[in-house]
Amino acid sequence: MSSLEDEAVEQNTVEGLTSSPSSDTDTSTGAIITITIGATVPTGFEHTAAEEVKEKIGSDARISKDRGRIYFPITTDKLFQVHLLCSVDNLFVVVAEFDCYQFKESKEETLKELQELASTLPWTNALEVWRLNRTLKKKKGHRKVGNTTRAKSKAAPSDVAASAEAAPHKLPQETSLADSDTKSVVTPDSETCQQDLEETANDAKVIKFRVTCNRAGDKHSFSSNEAARDFGGAVQEFFQWKADMTKFDIEVLLNIHNEEVVIGIALTEESLHRRNISHFGPTTLRSTLCYGMLRLCKPQESDIILDPMCGTGAIPLEGAIEFGESFYIAGDNNDMAVSRTVNNICHIQKRRAEKGSPSGLPIDTVQWDLSNLPVRTSSVDIIVTDMPFGKRMGSRKKNWDLYPSCLREMARVCRPGSGKAVILTQDKKCFTKAISRMGGLWRKLHTVWVNVGGLHAGVYLLKRTAAMFGQTPEDIYESRGRSDAHMNETDDKESSELQPNV
Ligand SMILES: C[S@@+](CC[C@H](N)C(=O)[O-])C[C@H]1O[C@@H](n2cnc3c(N)ncnc32)[C@H](O)[C@@H]1O
Ligand SMILES: *[C@@H]1O[C@H](CO)[C@@H](O)[C@H](O)[C@H]1NC(C)=O
Ligand SMILES: *[C@@H]1O[C@H](CO)[C@@H](O)[C@H](O)[C@H]1NC(C)=O
Ligand SMILES: *[C@@H]1O[C@H](CO)[C@@H](O)[C@H](O)[C@H]1NC(C)=O
Ligand SMILES: *[C@@H]1O[C@H](CO)[C@@H](O)[C@H](O)[C@H]1NC(C)=O
Repeated sequence: MSSLEDEAVEQNTVEGLTSSPSSDTDTSTGAIITITIGATVPTGFEHTAAEEVKEKIGSDARISKDRGRIYFPITTDKLFQVHLLCSVDNLFVVVAEFDCYQFKESKEETLKELQELASTLPWTNALEVWRLNRTLKKKKGHRKVGNTTRAKSKAAPSDVAASAEAAPHKLPQETSLADSDTKSVVTPDSETCQQDLEETANDAKVIKFRVTCNRAGDKHSFSSNEAARDFGGAVQEFFQWKADMTKFDIEVLLNIHNEEVVIGIALTEESLHRRNISHFGPTTLRSTLCYGMLRLCKPQESDIILDPMCGTGAIPLEGAIEFGESFYIAGDNNDMAVSRTVNNICHIQKRRAEKGSPSGLPIDTVQWDLSNLPVRTSSVDIIVTDMPFGKRMGSRKKNWDLYPSCLREMARVCRPGSGKAVILTQDKKCFTKAISRMGGLWRKLHTVWVNVGGLHAGVYLLKRTAAMFGQTPEDIYESRGRSDAHMNETDDKESSELQPNV
């Protein structure tokens, strides 16, 4: 397949692009160049991701605020490190960016300009990085062996449309509520289109590509579909590549956000957020978001970290792998959830053992009900958890019971004065109410607004105050009158607390 990579350079040269110093050399010995990497990250955690980049790669990242994107420069010798970042979902190398692209009024003019743009972009370095990345991949031995018989057969148009549904970014399990995808429709004005173009040649040597357009903004005269189609057509003509929706070598990204236009080449084939999870549940949280939540509470050596509603264990597992100096306890009341967590842990342990690592993961799993944890008072340093939103999991009505009892029990087990909690929930109203009634056991430090599978959710960083548990009128009242609490989620009035229930 190296002929294919050579092809990229050849095409380049043929088309008369200014060649970079290394474009004719083997990339493994090629000159080191500086390029800009773009990364999609969980919305709201852009700063956390930037922090990680600074810490692990040493670059200062530019943050595209609240858009789930960051950009940072690297030299190509650091390319492999980029794939080891824990906060990034997808990676790409930037070909060109326009902060203030002046779109023409009419659709025709705009699309024509996009077509003209394709041949004027500085593609060389980005293609070089894409090639280098392939070399890395081959070295790692992760390369997928294509089925050539199939790849050569020409797909009928209907097949192409169908396969568009199962684009490599979307794995079959991609149904989880907590799984937002960069491709998901976030606002009515944003959309995504992966444009496949008519196949022109049957030459297996020709580079196959596709264009994916992500568009957000309400002032565009065109759709992402049209942009991908016309821009893609021009790219095809320029490089003489072949369009292929599913078996592409290169994915060209056209990201349009209002007036900002960024053209890139993808460096990930699937989102990195599924790493290390093998048994998925209905609401498995993306590892990248788990990582962001864990970072918020800065785990220290020998900290005891609890996830009392662990589901498939995504949070404690990410913690045990990335912040392995702490000790984790994962619990859930659902036996399916507990067994998934155990399976996920076993899977990683096995992989570690195969690699010759003798140490087990610092994590235990327990089945429990969180309103009565078998955990000593004031013994936990950090709680990191993802509460049932009341949509896929539980119900809004149940939350009015669950949230207060959960916060109270967490306040009991958490160390007064130093304990922390990081809690993700979409039921913000219920959560805020519950916090306000905790008799000052918890103090809200910071809220990160995130997008979880298209739902607006909050990640609350709480600090356990020095107040002793069980000594304030509120928590005594609450634990006695628990079932008198709100039974109606739409009722916001304090007085409902006084209404006898049943
Ligand atoms: C949003 S899910 C957590 C998903 C998890 N973060 C993951 O990645 O798989 C909430 C979990 O809370 C659990 N749960 C609900 N009520 C509970 C209770 N009273 N005690 C313990 N766990 C409970 C549910 O079984 C569910 O697995
Ligand atoms: C780039 O390299 C990484 C790490 O080796 C690999 O996982 C990924 O699939 C490669 N991306 C592409 C587009 O080949
Ligand atoms: C390739 O795919 C065809 C059709 O699905 C199958 O019959 C064949 O065994 C496959 N070959 C390899 C090498 O996987
Ligand atoms: C977790 O996943 C990453 C990415 O696939 C991998 O490099 C790493 O080895 C995994 N960690 C463990 C402990 O298996
Ligand atoms: C909940 O509130 C709604 C609207 O205020 C009301 O129609 C409904 O009857 C209430 N349900 C209960 C169980 O109190």
